[in-house]
Amino acid sequence: MEPITITRAPVLKEKPQDESKLGFGRIFTDHMFLMNYEEGRGWFNPRIVPYQDFHMDPASVVLHYGQAIFEGTKCYRREDGGIQLFRPEQNLARMTRSAQRMCMPALDEETALEGIRELVLLDQDWVPHSPGTSLYIRPTMISQDIHLGVHASRTYLFFVIMSPVGSYYKDGLKPVGIYVEDNYVRAVRGGTGFTKCAGNYAASILAGDIAEKKGYSQVLWLDGVEQKYIEEVGSMNMLFAYGNRIVTPMLNGSILPGITRDSILILARQLGYEVEEKRMAIADVFDDIRSGALTEAFGSGTAAVISPVGELCWGDQVLTINNGEIGPVASRLYETLTGIQYGRIEDTNHWIIKLT
Ligand code: COI
Repeated sequence: MEPITITRAPVLKEKPQDESKLGFGRIFTDHMFLMNYEEGRGWFNPRIVPYQDFHMDPASVVLHYGQAIFEGTKCYRREDGGIQLFRPEQNLARMTRSAQRMCMPALDEETALEGIRELVLLDQDWVPHSPGTSLYIRPTMISQDIHLGVHASRTYLFFVIMSPVGSYYKDGLKPVGIYVEDNYVRAVRGGTGFTKCAGNYAASILAGDIAEKKGYSQVLWLDGVEQKYIEEVGSMNMLFAYGNRIVTPMLNGSILPGITRDSILILARQLGYEVEEKRMAIADVFDDIRSGALTEAFGSGTAAVISPVGELCWGDQVLTINNGEIGPVASRLYETLTGIQYGRIEDTNHWIIKLT
C-alpha cells in the first residue's frame, strides 16, 4: 500500500457550537482524503489535504454523463469519549460493486479504509458528542476524463469528505409520512438500482419534491415493471412488522442492499424475531394495515438510522400506522443498533472498528 501523505490545514474552521442544530450534511470538516486512478497504473497518490474546492474542466465526463458513485458511513462517539466506525469495509465493498456496474475501476479498498481511518483521526474533534449525533463520512468516486464521447474514462478520482450530523429528518425519531409513488419509477431490473450511483438520486428528486409539497417526507418507490411491489424509499430500505415477524422486500437487483438493512436483519434474528425477505405487493400491505395484521413500518439507512413511518399515502388512500407512533419493534431495534454503534451494547458481531 502506498503511504498516505498528510498536508494539514494552516487554519482550522470553527466547529459548530450548538449540536442540536446540526441537521444533515451542511457543515464540512477541515480535511479530505483523495486518491487518483489511471488506467494501466491503478490507484495512486493517496493523500489528506485541507478541505477545498475542486478545479474541473467543463468537459469532464462526470459533469455530462454522471459517472459518479458514493457511499455513506458514520463515526460515532462513545460515552467514554472514544470514537468508532461501524462496518465501513461493507461500504467500500459495495462501492466496488457499484463501480463495476458503472464501468468504473474497483476501489483499492484497503487504502480507502486506511484513508478514512487517518482522516477521521485527524479531524476527530469534529465527531459530535450529543446523543443521536455522529460524523457522516461520504466516500465518492467520479470519472475525470475530458471528452464528450460516451465511453468509460481512463482517469478517476476517489475522495472522502466528512460532515457532523444530527438526524436526517428534522423531527428525529418522530414517525414520518411517506407518499407511495405510482407514476415515476426509480429503477428497473438490469438497471442501476442496486448501486449508489448519483443518477439514481438525481432521478428521484422530482418525485421527492412533489411528495414534499403534499406534506410527505419521502416517496416509497414501487417496482419499475408493474408498479405493484414495494422497493425502497431512496434514502432508506423499508421494513414492516407483523407482531414479532419482520418482513422486508427481498433484494432483486433494483433495491439498494443497505448495510443498515443487513445489520437490522441480523440483529432481529438474534433478538428472536422471525425475519422474512420477500416480494411485497403494496395492495397487500394496505390490506394488512387496515386489518391490523401489519403493526409497524419503518425505514433503515445510514443517514436515517431507523425511521418509523406513521402514515402511508397511496393514490386516494391514506392510512395511519400504529397511531402515528413509534412501535415496540422499531424502538427495540433502534436501541440495539444505536447501542452497538455508540458502544453502549457489546458488539458480538465484530462490526465496530475502534479508532480511539
Ligand atoms: C445514507 O444513508 O448514507 C445515504 O446515502 C442516503 C442519502 C442519500 C442521504
